[in-house]
Amino acid sequence: MQIIEREKLNQEIEDLKSQYGSSRAALIEILQNLQAKYGFLSGLVMQETAHALDIHPAEVEGVASFYSFFRTEEKQGKYVIRLCQTISCDMAGKDRVAQQLENELGIEFGETTKDGMFTLEYTNCLGMCDQGPALMINDRLFAKVTPEKVPQIIADCKRDFVKTDFPQIVPSVVQKKGPITENEAAVGEGLKAALAKSRVDLIAVIRESNMRGRGGAGFPTAVKWQLAGAAKSDEKYVVCNADEGEPGTFKDRYLLYEQTGLLVDGMTIAAYAIGARKGYIYLRGEYLYLKQYLEDFLKKRNNEGLLGSNILGKDGFSFDIELRMGIGAYVCGEETGLIESLEGKRGEPRNRPPFPVDTGFGGKPTIVNNVETFVAAALICAKGANWFNQNGTQNSSGTKLFSVSGDCEKPGIYEMPFGISIAQLLKEVGGEDAKAVQVGGASGWCIPRKDFERKIAFEDVSTGGSIMVFGPDRDMLQVAKNFMEFFVEESCGQCTPCREGNVQLLEGLEMLEEGCCSMSYLNELLKLGETMQIASKCGLGQASPNAFITIIENFKDEILGRVPTTV
Ligand code: FES
Repeated sequence: MQIIEREKLNQEIEDLKSQYGSSRAALIEILQNLQAKYGFLSGLVMQETAHALDIHPAEVEGVASFYSFFRTEEKQGKYVIRLCQTISCDMAGKDRVAQQLENELGIEFGETTKDGMFTLEYTNCLGMCDQGPALMINDRLFAKVTPEKVPQIIADCKRDFVKTDFPQIVPSVVQKKGPITENEAAVGEGLKAALAKSRVDLIAVIRESNMRGRGGAGFPTAVKWQLAGAAKSDEKYVVCNADEGEPGTFKDRYLLYEQTGLLVDGMTIAAYAIGARKGYIYLRGEYLYLKQYLEDFLKKRNNEGLLGSNILGKDGFSFDIELRMGIGAYVCGEETGLIESLEGKRGEPRNRPPFPVDTGFGGKPTIVNNVETFVAAALICAKGANWFNQNGTQNSSGTKLFSVSGDCEKPGIYEMPFGISIAQLLKEVGGEDAKAVQVGGASGWCIPRKDFERKIAFEDVSTGGSIMVFGPDRDMLQVAKNFMEFFVEESCGQCTPCREGNVQLLEGLEMLEEGCCSMSYLNELLKLGETMQIASKCGLGQASPNAFITIIENFKDEILGRVPTTV
């Protein structure tokens, strides 16, 4: 057991305060650093941090217990192996990898080896769904893991990865490029064009493009920028939601690494449009391996005069971006949960109104857009509104990046116009024999074969990009169960419909599996799902029953076979 010296610890906390500040907002950064140093957050670490930031120790414990990547017990090994248990990796053979890991290490999931070297844990989607089964060891990702690769992975850990064949950053697979993904050469162009306009004219260009947020909700980007721009405050913020946690989504990972210049251009343009001087990229904890790369990139932009004071010589326009790490909480993908997390709190979504454009980070006007939205905004400024809206439909303009995984020949990233049918997309990805497609991730909708002519667009089936293909032999009850297990784990527990409802739905699926769920109880559960859609506080609970309802309704024949005929 490691002995922590109080005096030394306090000095470390003081050093971290001088780096991250001494406000409550610095809490998560400080805890992340202390955990990296000591391996876990002991009572002493939390207590001294609380004193140093002048907050109650219970507040610190509340934060430490909220996020799945924080550890409050000294039971983890030097290497924490987190195997993805979410549906695409599950379908790709995660159980066989799990078995081999247990055989190799002589422990079960949830345990640590006696020598303190390895801990085995399950985790949720790592953003590698097209290359599953995926696992993460500390800050390293491993894709397409097979049982045969397990011994080498373990051996590499024992050598501290001094010599390894596994890359630090697993390359993304872009199967189909389009106007957004082909425009790497346009870095800086959009920013220059934007700064040459007045703020009003700049927002007018975004409005003409008809762009709706690419994160899934589809709120018109120009309206968001306009509202934040009009809000009266001398402090405003631009936040990039890079917390791509929806199961089956991995296209932002590609944009963050391969289109970083356009992303930063887009954030800087947004800052100019609303009058912000400070921005944050909130990067999901599972993408820790991108941290150093992104920090170096931001530094380079500063040196080039593309961030900092008087950007591109524009008098009085200053903007800086700071990178903040998520800590393993899906609910922080919701914009107000994300803001709470940025403020150093539990990532529990807020009641709305007030909306972030009015009362956001630190109570100041804030826009939160996702990675793809900022990249597209930069290109719209460079190439014009018509260049963007010549693709797509009237209500869903432009092309969209889709993350395709599951039972298809060519999983990966596809850029295609909004408005394509599911059948067209399946043809492209080699999944024509699918019996169902989950559009929009675990919180989206399960579309059966008879509806494959439906369009992927905000006016029909909307998605932030996740497309999961289910082949003819997939057991849809198991698919539904995997989704509900995910939501039971990820619900923040704030509101009763979501906290209790997800558990009830999962238990119902387990009863169905065992053949002991009556028809009348199943109908009750469908009604419960509808109540959750209306009564839950945030998007998580409002959307979590979607898959349950659509799978039960569309695959009654398959699923009801397990319901006893006598009630
Ligand atoms: Fe496993 Fe996404 S990485 S499902």
